[in-house]
Amino acid sequence: MRYLENSKASNFIFGEAIYEYSKNKDTKLELIKKDKTIFTIDLDYYFRDYKDLSNIEKKALSLAKGEILDVGCATGYYIPKLKKFGIVDAIDISEHLIRIAVENGIKECHVADIFKYKPSGDYDTITLLENNLGLGGTLLKTKKLFKILAKLLKPDGRIIAIIRHTDYKKKYYSSEYLPLWNGSLGKKFRWFYFNIKFLRKFCNKFKLKLEILDEDVDEGRKMYLLGKIQKLMQLSFSKKTLVNLYLQYLVILLIF
Ligand SMILES: C[S@@+](CC[C@H](N)C(=O)[O-])C[C@H]1O[C@@H](n2cnc3c(N)ncnc32)[C@H](O)[C@@H]1O
Repeated sequence: MRYLENSKASNFIFGEAIYEYSKNKDTKLELIKKDKTIFTIDLDYYFRDYKDLSNIEKKALSLAKGEILDVGCATGYYIPKLKKFGIVDAIDISEHLIRIAVENGIKECHVADIFKYKPSGDYDTITLLENNLGLGGTLLKTKKLFKILAKLLKPDGRIIAIIRHTDYKKKYYSSEYLPLWNGSLGKKFRWFYFNIKFLRKFCNKFKLKLEILDEDVDEGRKMYLLGKIQKLMQLSFSKKTLVNLYLQYLVILLIF
């Protein structure tokens, strides 16, 4: 078995495989789980037209508005529709995927890592579809991701996300995958899955309020459309401010 030498991260292999698929439909990408189960990724999925999207995806796109950021946009197949609802910035960590988007005339897509992304302004809507809320892979990185997303939202902004595999008994689950592409093994990577009840609590930690808008069953497992993961307005005072307010109150009491 050959190991891919230039693959710093599995996300790059994912993009490279899809890029090769765009030129040669025989390209196959498989993921091997820790328990050795192997499943083949349907690469055609990343070249779907709007009419081929599921109802839940169509609904998710229709909820976007204003200044929109699509995180992990892949080949940019959602972008033509998203553009009808607002001004779109779309990012993906894979140069190969963005190359496909650009070759297809989708100019809104850029190579960027959400963990390092520094836009000039904040967003009304951030979309994370196809379980992209799990791209952090571990609990620590997912916390980091939520912190970043909450910061990138305007005060009344919202995150629209679709999540799958929410029925684990545990609060969350981090799954490890080994990519196998054209007979070559890539670098292992992790994806993070939330139990839906835990996700609500997790959102609250980041001053985000979760609202479930729809649910569907996909391959026997529940899939949720999350909308309005909305910033809670914060009315917070520092300790120093509270002490000052208390002292002022005492002074007023003493004067009168
Ligand atoms: C499961 S695919 C989903 C693609 C697409 N949003 C969809 O719904 O079909 C995850 C995508 O996230 C991208 N990605 C992974 N980590 C990322 C990061 N740190 N910053 C930006 N994009 C990332 C991958 O390259 C990949 O295209």
